[in-house]
Amino acid sequence: MTLLVTGSAGFIGSCVVRQLIAETDEPVVSIDALTYAGNPLSFGPAADSPLHRFEHADIRDEPRMRAIFEQYQPRAILHLAAESHVDRSIHGPAEFVSTNVIGTMTLLQVALDYWRALPEPRKSAFRFQHISTDEVFGSLSATDPAFEETTAYQPNSPYSASKAGSDHLVRAWHHTYGLPTLMTNCSNNYGPYHFPEKLIPLMILNALEGKPLPVYGDGQNVRDWLYVEDHARALRLVLERGRPGETYNVGGAAERKNLDVVHVLCATLDELHPAGAPHARLIQFVTDRPGHDRRYAINFSKLESELGWRPQESFETGLRKTVQWYLDNPGWVASVRSGDYRHWLDKNYAQRASTS
Ligand code: NAD
Ligand code: DAU
Repeated sequence: MTLLVTGSAGFIGSCVVRQLIAETDEPVVSIDALTYAGNPLSFGPAADSPLHRFEHADIRDEPRMRAIFEQYQPRAILHLAAESHVDRSIHGPAEFVSTNVIGTMTLLQVALDYWRALPEPRKSAFRFQHISTDEVFGSLSATDPAFEETTAYQPNSPYSASKAGSDHLVRAWHHTYGLPTLMTNCSNNYGPYHFPEKLIPLMILNALEGKPLPVYGDGQNVRDWLYVEDHARALRLVLERGRPGETYNVGGAAERKNLDVVHVLCATLDELHPAGAPHARLIQFVTDRPGHDRRYAINFSKLESELGWRPQESFETGLRKTVQWYLDNPGWVASVRSGDYRHWLDKNYAQRASTS
């Protein structure tokens, strides 16, 4: 028995790998192209486990994917590899379509051929699990009900449009070819090993360096926050007990306005790492993200009633653990702040005028 995990050196994929290696005896083969967002240091203790094998490979490389399936004979694949940052998709959408749409189709096709040739009972047990996002459902007003699995897709950014495209392909490969797929649509994750282009780690690291904390627009956009370890648990549960062809929403039951998130982060830093003056003084309102979705909210009652999953971490405890992790891991932080990272900060923030 072997599990394949794509996007394994990223934020969520590495959490899945660390959790699998810590809590199961099953071999894990992890695949990652090591883009700017992938970092082998994120494997943590799983890096040295004899149960973990890393393949440095691109999911768009079809012969390589076929060879990996052939060599390892997996019982399932958890597909997390993607371009994942909305702001980057606005600056350069092509890579998002290439990896998220074409890459997913390549994997589906490779998995389909592999699955078709499997003998029973391995054929019936095989799963292709696709990890997606709540952003495919579009934007909610303050009073709209939360996204359900049946909510119509209305992606608004190049990122969410490319993820929606990949979701539709997964659905089609199940409907047309019978591939036993599973899909999850999750809200905003946060936690250790989060690349500091995303809101929470960016704010923590900027605050530690006394740099401005750039809040887009009026800071009233709402996201639902889930601690990454809880997401990884949900994915493992869906893999083992989800029904093929189904999709499951995953959420944190923690809707927060961006400005409130930044204020809680500042207060936590004031306590854990006092700077002599409140970190909130660094908050600066800047030009909004084009097409910025106002609110996401997730109804995860299907996952709760069918599989008994709920998040274990509250937003407050999870955020505190996260801040402490960044304080305790300057080595990891230094390793991801390469030349490319500085180039990104210039590109995304230098031309965002302060509106404070
Ligand atoms: P991430 O950007 O941290 O990691 C993505 C990983 O994929 C990186 O390690 C990168 O090197 C790898 N990758 C990119 N292109 C590749 C390619 N062509 N071939 C192989 N590997 C490639 O992203 P994340 O936050 O860990 O998200 C993982 C998945 O979960 C994505 O599919 C994302 O859409 C989805 N998701 C993320 C969130 C979130 O809040 N972060 C929420 C819901 C769903
Ligand atoms: O909802 C799930 C999605 O969450 C995932 O599919 C994406 O992969 C993930 O990146 C995340 O997308 P968001 O766009 O919501 O996350 P981000 O951290 O980029 O931004 C969170 C909110 O904070 C959003 O409203 C924009 C705002 N923001 C972000 C940054 C980077 C700021 O105000 N300032 C910033 O500097």
